[in-house]
Amino acid sequence: MRRDLDRILIDRARIAERVREMGVELARQLEGELQAEGASPDEAGHAVMIPVLTGSMIFVADLVREMPMKLSLGLVAVSSYPGKSMQSKGASIASELPPDLAGKHVVIADDILDTGNTLALVKRLVLEKKPASVRVVVLLRKILPGHTPPIEADLVGFEIPDEFVVGYGLDYDGLYRNLPEIAVLRPEAL
Ligand code: IMP
Ligand code: MG
Repeated sequence: MRRDLDRILIDRARIAERVREMGVELARQLEGELQAEGASPDEAGHAVMIPVLTGSMIFVADLVREMPMKLSLGLVAVSSYPGKSMQSKGASIASELPPDLAGKHVVIADDILDTGNTLALVKRLVLEKKPASVRVVVLLRKILPGHTPPIEADLVGFEIPDEFVVGYGLDYDGLYRNLPEIAVLRPEAL
């Protein structure tokens, strides 16, 4: 696996530190909103984290363990990059949304905001369920010259240049998700 890498863009220590900060910040915001609804910290409702599969699974596994609060997880599957494609083909939803989002504080989490099509779709579908609030959280935000995405993330781990990256959940043709760093592949590996 490592011989396919051109270089490491973000190492394990930087990812861990940033994900910890993001979890603490997100929990602080959500707890604030839950308590503003009047309930005491003990009886306050809970937030719902919606990881967009499959790319977000490693990020979310680390993120939620940095969030000391009541939280439920409801997965959603979206397909946008079939096979060896490196260009989003437009997102389509491949599973139901989790039930009972009405009135809840919802966090949609994904590995990367690239064209933004995936997250725009998921957010639109979540909003139809009339949640109390919706946030979009991504580990990476790719800066595409001349492109304004249809959606912005409320919390971003790292901004990266317009390069195809793998690792920490992100794949190329289904592989490299288990790499602990964020890396760029050698052209020969593509
Ligand atoms: P978008 O709809 O173009 O924003 O792309 C969203 C999905 O494409 C993400 O959830 C990723 O799974 C995938 N994706 C986008 N850029 C990359 C990349 O550089 N490496 C691996 N997957 C990517
Ligand atoms: Mg994905």
